Amino acid sequence: MSRSDIAVFLDRDGTIIEDRGDLSRVEDVVFFSDTFESLRRLNAKFRLFLITNQSGVSKGTITMHDVQRVNKHVVNVLQDEGIAVDDVFVCPHDKSDECKCRKPSPYYLEVAAERYGIDLKRSYVLGDHPHDVETAIAAGGCGVYLLTGHGIRHIAELGDGDRIVAACLSDAADMILDETGRAGELTNTEQAAHLLRRGGIVAFPTETVYGLAANALDPCAVAKVFAAKQRPHFDPLIVHLPDIAWLDRLARDIPDTAVRLVDTCWPGPLTIVVPRSELIPDIVTSGLDTVALRMPDHPLAKELLDKCGVPLAAPSANRFGCISPTCAQHVQDSLGNDIDMILDGGKCRVGIESTIVAFEDSGLPVILRPGGISPEMLEEACGCRPRMIPHLLSKDDYPQAPGMLERHYSPATPLLLIENGADVPAPPPDGRRCALLLADKQKTTVPHGFSAVEILSPDGNLTESAQRLFALLRKLDADNYDLLYAELVPDNGLGVAINDRLKRAAGQKIAF
Ligand code: TXA
Ligand code: MG
Repeated sequence: MSRSDIAVFLDRDGTIIEDRGDLSRVEDVVFFSDTFESLRRLNAKFRLFLITNQSGVSKGTITMHDVQRVNKHVVNVLQDEGIAVDDVFVCPHDKSDECKCRKPSPYYLEVAAERYGIDLKRSYVLGDHPHDVETAIAAGGCGVYLLTGHGIRHIAELGDGDRIVAACLSDAADMILDETGRAGELTNTEQAAHLLRRGGIVAFPTETVYGLAANALDPCAVAKVFAAKQRPHFDPLIVHLPDIAWLDRLARDIPDTAVRLVDTCWPGPLTIVVPRSELIPDIVTSGLDTVALRMPDHPLAKELLDKCGVPLAAPSANRFGCISPTCAQHVQDSLGNDIDMILDGGKCRVGIESTIVAFEDSGLPVILRPGGISPEMLEEACGCRPRMIPHLLSKDDYPQAPGMLERHYSPATPLLLIENGADVPAPPPDGRRCALLLADKQKTTVPHGFSAVEILSPDGNLTESAQRLFALLRKLDADNYDLLYAELVPDNGLGVAINDRLKRAAGQKIAF
């Protein structure tokens, strides 16, 4: 493979320089801070071309001479920075001129292919407008959509197809170099990362439960997650970060308490809800001006995020309202046919979802959902006792605290709850088949009549109970009993989250 086989076609305004409208003066050219380093890295392997629509010429707001002067300046500056641009293609027409050279027409790509021996199928077009991506796809190549320039404003118009959404030129360069630099077969994680970058949806393991991921910067990909899960659009997703540097890119005005929590608990089962930056698409947050962020602590999740190079929006990988999956088979059973891939990482270590914490204006933490980090651990990490918001909310409370439905994480079989340590009632004598889920082995007497008895943890170990909770609920649900009974666990440490899930599975009612 010779270096000249693959080309990177660069849009100009909004992609390598700031988009300031019709540019006629070289003094107005401002390169992005990452332009030179990104293009230097790309140019070490690929031929570079500029391809720009300048309809101002047709409209009479600038002259072709102005455009050429600016382009010459851009190419000269790049050259001084050690970056060689092989050719510059300009379409001076307006849409109404019906020319053949205006993006998204692949005309100039074909000219370059002919003139320079470029393999368009392996080439890339980088730009901040959907037509840049369409140009690539029309030529059989890959489009890279940048959220710089007009990128954020036009992203809703971006279609599907062979394209990647990246936050900036530097991230895009990383991705292109990563995918073209690989030799031989892809590992499972590389395959998953490839699918995710191209707008696919992939289930992956985290330390809490399996998530169903999409590129969090790509609204089209995120929409596929909602569709596969049959999740209502008012219920926002958690965004998983590749590294801590993404925190400042995705959030603003982060309270000190949040920073302290993150320092102690990340990577790990803590999700913080903080004001979001404009990089996050509305669909991820259901239109809220806050975003839920977490950094998972699972070797495969970390590797996947690292290889993707973008944050991943991921709810638990189950149909909306059902029990979260804690192994790959659970995902296969419920979503197997509707998603692009399942990355198998064995059983989840924690077994229940992350603790979600929001912050009051004063910075005080508020637990929106108890989870893998106990209230005691939070208190130790931030030096104050977090308040717990009551989750007995009805649907009318949306979208204030979405995902906090009274009934959620539910088996299909009706579930009755028993207080921890209370006497187990006898099952109804009407022939209904009943199963019992006990907290531990302390019970001496289990009344006759239960068809099955399962135990969360023989010696009442809450870590083990959390690990096994969802798998046991699924098993009991799959065995088609008429009625399930479950004993609550002691309400401290991880027990707070376990009881929360049991209560939601039962629709909040404690029967005995
Ligand atoms: O452990 C976990 O948190 C797993 C793994 C995959 O990371 N994820 C998970 O996601 O449990 P999910 O979709 O099942 O729960 C996400 C919940 C939403 O239902 C909502 O309650 C809350 O996070 N959430 C997300 N964004 C929010 C926001 N901006 N404000 C308040 N709550 C938010
Ligand atoms: Mg542009």
